[in-house]
Amino acid sequence: VAILIRVKSRPSLSALRKQIFLPTDGTVLLNAGTMSPTPKAVMAAAEGIRAEQASNPHRFFFERHGQHITKARATLAKYLRVEKNDLFLVPNVTIALNFAIFAIDAAVREGKLKRNTVLVSSLEYGSIALAWRNASALKVEVVPVHHCQTWDEIVAAFRKQMNKKTIAICMSHIAQPNGRVLPVKALVDLARERGVLSVIDGAHVPGMLPLDLESLGADAYGANVHKWMMGLANSGFLHVSKAMKNLLRPMFVSWGLKDLRADNRDTFAPFYGGTQLQGAIEFWGCVDRVPQMVLPQTIEFLNLVGEERMRARMKELSLYLRKEISPLLEPLGFSDPEQAVALTAFKLPECDRGQVRAWFWKRKIAIGATRLREDVEGRHDEVVESSEREAFLRVSTAWFNTESDIDHLRDATARWLRR
Ligand SMILES: Cc1ncc(COP(=O)(O)O)c(C=O)c1O
Repeated sequence: VAILIRVKSRPSLSALRKQIFLPTDGTVLLNAGTMSPTPKAVMAAAEGIRAEQASNPHRFFFERHGQHITKARATLAKYLRVEKNDLFLVPNVTIALNFAIFAIDAAVREGKLKRNTVLVSSLEYGSIALAWRNASALKVEVVPVHHCQTWDEIVAAFRKQMNKKTIAICMSHIAQPNGRVLPVKALVDLARERGVLSVIDGAHVPGMLPLDLESLGADAYGANVHKWMMGLANSGFLHVSKAMKNLLRPMFVSWGLKDLRADNRDTFAPFYGGTQLQGAIEFWGCVDRVPQMVLPQTIEFLNLVGEERMRARMKELSLYLRKEISPLLEPLGFSDPEQAVALTAFKLPECDRGQVRAWFWKRKIAIGATRLREDVEGRHDEVVESSEREAFLRVSTAWFNTESDIDHLRDATARWLRR
């Protein structure tokens, strides 16, 4: 009965749409895949915490900071159904994965790990591939999976390239250039069988797909809260396995390192709002962590929207999007509908993707424009032939979007093609 009353009294999606900040100048936001607009309740909570800090910074630094972070971590851990001591709160997925990369690189450099080759999928986000390449003790090999038709082919491509030198694999859970869901569970299992560490980029997953990190069992899973979960910009997380937790070390050194010892890594330290290890990893002196402190309000808003309802609406909108845009641009389809989410890619004719994005932006449409194999090969001038670098219009259809947003995009796309 209680559940029925709650569902019945839940505001409609159009009522909830009024509870988020949206542009007032007619701009159409079809790029939640980069960042979502913010719910007003989340912003209000952040302003409240900032006022607390502004009026009593001493108390905030020495007492409230730790209390807010403790509560935020506990709420996120409950939402993700993970052990809170394995969960690190960081500004974004870039930083989350850099921690994992740094840890593996350092362990190889120090001889604690004997292998040194990392397999990175050809669908990885450019900056994450660059972070692997920047790790001096590691050798990066790209696994070409962008033209694979099935998940089995993707897993087989990784299996084929794995050998006694492989120390880690890196794969997105949802690939950003084409919006495809990738077979992370099979890859994590394969890695474990071979004694290889698995590093997963889940930037687009929280809020988009149901997530069960414990049963996925990746060694490092980094993700963003400011994309589909609609958190304030500057909120992401890293979840680690026991093996990865043993390798983790601070990248930016502050007070947390002072007292960190092998026997107290999991001991709660109130000042940091987490364990001694979490303090050593996350605490960087006086920096702004308010976006992480409002995780409870972010999750509360998400629960108000309701993940099931949110996903159903995103699916409905992406079907409408495909129907409206496909007479103009060819959408990428996948063999299995489960591989498609609310991030749809349409093939673009030969073009400069920066100019495409700018053209639509000038017409007040925020849209993604991506490339296959973007930067994964290394520096821009090292990237393979242009046929390998197909460009896409990448459209995010979040629950707060409307059919009318898509109609705007359709009309603008027709004009772009005629230009
Ligand atoms: C797959 C993937 N990884 C990493 C990132 C980087 O996200 P952030 O800049 O929030 O760290 C993005 C951003 O769009 C992404 O799509």
